[in-house]
Amino acid sequence: MIINLIIVLVLAVILLTIWLNFRHNDVKWSDRKIDIAKLDFPRDFLWGAATSAYQVEGACDQNDWSVWERSFAENANPRIKGGQKPGLAADHWNRYRNDIDLLRQMGGNAYRFSVEWSKVCPGPGVWDRRVIDHYIEKCAYLNENGAKPFVTLHHFTIPAWLFERGGFEHPDSVNYFSDFVYKMAEALGPYVDYWATINEPAVYAMMGWVRGIFPPGKQDPGLAARVLNNLLKAHFQAYHAIHETDQSDADGDGVPCKVGIVKNITIFDPARKWWLPDWVGAKILHHLFNQSVLEAFLTDRFAFNLKNIVNFSQKIPGLSDTLDWIGLNYYTQYLCKPDRKSDFKIKMYPSQKAAQTDMGWAVYPAGLYRALQMIRLPGVPIYITENGIATEDETLRQDFILKHVEAIREAMLDSCDVRGYFYRSLLDNFEWVEGFDKRFGLYHVDFETQKRTLKDGAQIYKEIIHARGHKK
Ligand code: GAL
Repeated sequence: MIINLIIVLVLAVILLTIWLNFRHNDVKWSDRKIDIAKLDFPRDFLWGAATSAYQVEGACDQNDWSVWERSFAENANPRIKGGQKPGLAADHWNRYRNDIDLLRQMGGNAYRFSVEWSKVCPGPGVWDRRVIDHYIEKCAYLNENGAKPFVTLHHFTIPAWLFERGGFEHPDSVNYFSDFVYKMAEALGPYVDYWATINEPAVYAMMGWVRGIFPPGKQDPGLAARVLNNLLKAHFQAYHAIHETDQSDADGDGVPCKVGIVKNITIFDPARKWWLPDWVGAKILHHLFNQSVLEAFLTDRFAFNLKNIVNFSQKIPGLSDTLDWIGLNYYTQYLCKPDRKSDFKIKMYPSQKAAQTDMGWAVYPAGLYRALQMIRLPGVPIYITENGIATEDETLRQDFILKHVEAIREAMLDSCDVRGYFYRSLLDNFEWVEGFDKRFGLYHVDFETQKRTLKDGAQIYKEIIHARGHKK
């Protein structure tokens, strides 16, 4: 009897292993030569580049990151590599006209950037008119020069005064954010049709409240869930605030505003395809980083669960009606396996078979195809709001851009409704805790002289755009 049971168990394990090994979690991807002229994109597809205020503007000295720059971890190390501070960063605040010209020279017809909340609103209820006018001028300049502004309202930073009050941990943050959104929609509405409410809510919550390497540097998954829930509520209110306020059609397509959220998708795969615990690890991370937010937009319920660690579920009625478009930020894939010492007890690491970026991320273009399939929601167009590579190897950058653009085309042929692509970053920038060393830019920036130079690996992007007939 026992022997029979053992035989059945062993057979079951063997069968499970075989089944797992053949379970399809990848897409067939051939490394063929790509002919730029034959990449067939619709004429109105947007070709752009992205930045975010703290990373390029300079003089962001009233937000939570300016506090973070001056603080130290428990081991006495500075929070940012080598104690670097962004200072003037790429001085985009003063040089935005020139930078927009650089984008236009490549043929780019859309620019995603963020407005710095702490500059617009340096104290509760205090609005800086000079800063608001600056952003109005920037959006006007974009329109005059044939580039659509895509404005991000929250890109990882909050004003220092709100940081002191608990930031997005605190439910009041939702109303503070919507006050800011009303102000921006009122001021920029005549120039802007595309609004992104929140950049990468799950990454923001994980970095600040699970890994603890972004402000406020906590390690508490329960709080991370609360923060994410508040961010989704903030998105909900912002969506309605913009629709109420922005009634002017800036680009003449008959629609005054289109509001979306920007979602990062990371591909999590089992390290060993035949080993069930690795599949479980990949699935857990996929739920926490990717699915929890996407599902909230399908079900009006935000659920963030991990056995014995966090169990959060709350309804956000009407959330599923708040996406006119969705932004996808895609960078990489991780392999996963159980590991007691890692966050959530799952180790994630890049495949050694793939080329790696200077961030230590695997180059995995098939992942963009998979991410696009994952993020599609019924009737919601997709913009790729970030994709790019930190490298000093310009052949690798060229290859990266070409293969990722091809992956988009493949996804579109398989009925993904993709409307635009933003390479990130337009310029080398201050890469959060990594500082200045990780160079993502299409344009190299000499941070001493502020000189910009188009990188060899970025030429291909210009060629792709020019081949589609878009020239300055
Ligand atoms: C995203 C973020 C960007 C940039 C990028 C690469 O999470 O939105 O600002 O830092 O990652 O690290």
